[in-house]
Amino acid sequence: MYVCLCKRITDAQIRSAVHAGASSLAEIRDTLGASSQCGKCGNLAREIVRDALADYVDDQTLFYAAS
Ligand code: FES
Repeated sequence: MYVCLCKRITDAQIRSAVHAGASSLAEIRDTLGASSQCGKCGNLAREIVRDALADYVDDQTLFYAAS
């Protein structure tokens, strides 16, 4: 789904950026441009970053638990 209409950024793009190393809304803004115009998407984008980080941590925990 589109999160940032100004820059046409989707939640999948934000999740991909988090998996590539981004860990904050500021980094998402710098890499993708989300929340860099009207800013209305900021809260939702931040929520998606937190959710993606939590998923990533869970994945890493499972990875290390299995090895
Ligand atoms: Fe994202 Fe406007 S909707 S900057």
